[in-house]
Amino acid sequence: MKIAIIGPGAMGLFFAVRLQGGGQEVWLLDYRPERCARLQRHGISLVSLEGLESRFALNVADDPQDIGTCDLVLVMVKAHQTEAVSPCLPCLLRPEGVALTLQNGIGNLESMAAALGPERLLAGVTMLGVTKMDVGRIRHAGQGPVLIGQPPGSQVTAVELTAIIAALRQAGLDCQAAPDIITVLWDKLLINVGINPVTALTRLRNGQLMIVPEAWRVVAAAVQEAWEVAMAAGLNPSADPLARVRRVCEATAANRSSMLQDILARRRTEIDAINGQIVLQGREFGLTTPVNALLTDLIKSLESGLTGGD
Ligand code: PAF
Repeated sequence: MKIAIIGPGAMGLFFAVRLQGGGQEVWLLDYRPERCARLQRHGISLVSLEGLESRFALNVADDPQDIGTCDLVLVMVKAHQTEAVSPCLPCLLRPEGVALTLQNGIGNLESMAAALGPERLLAGVTMLGVTKMDVGRIRHAGQGPVLIGQPPGSQVTAVELTAIIAALRQAGLDCQAAPDIITVLWDKLLINVGINPVTALTRLRNGQLMIVPEAWRVVAAAVQEAWEVAMAAGLNPSADPLARVRRVCEATAANRSSMLQDILARRRTEIDAINGQIVLQGREFGLTTPVNALLTDLIKSLESGLTGGD
């Protein structure tokens, strides 16, 4: 299978290395030419869960024309970049190709459908923990499943879905089909709503959240509000979302959440697509979500870059 991965963040690099190791032809699209040149020159370094570091050479391009058409395109940029990268999907995909989002937050599918239509889309989530240590250097910091499925309007067949799952399994990933992928996206959102802003504000690693009662209380309150919004939206999120958050914290204990990594690197975060979405959607159903609103405002204050200390 020829696969393009859009987004050279921690997760994009991890999937690129793993899928290439699983025997696929993989191309990484990095829209920033200087970083692309560096990745071409030096390759990618992956530190395994056991602490072993290995270097891999990868095909990297900053222009989709240099990649040509692919069977599968994984969209792995930050949620706020999806709208900007989606117009390159039609040129990267073969007519029978599939575009798969494996991103955090809500709204990515809609941006991709606006550029490509819904027919050739798949959606998914990953509970893996991967920490970016430097440009092209990542650390696998937690195990977790990858769940993928057909969102409404998708015409990707069960046979095509099975072939993609097989490629991800060949890459050593614990990948499964999810019949109701929208509920799965919301289940993942409920996890990010708790872990991401609280780790970003406190600088705790995922596993440390559970042992600081004050931090865990904020996680619980944010997740409860988000669960109520999901119920009001007519979704059927998994029961006991806090127990699911705890399991992800345990499985990715050593990881810095993606939002904490963004804050430390002074990058824009995904707060709008995560807690910000809970506030917006809550409003539609007449629900107030004060904890999510406060977390959103605090993360945006950090993003302003006006903080004094390092
Ligand atoms: O955004 C993240 O960091 C990840 O989605 C997760 C699963 C919370 C692990 O850190």
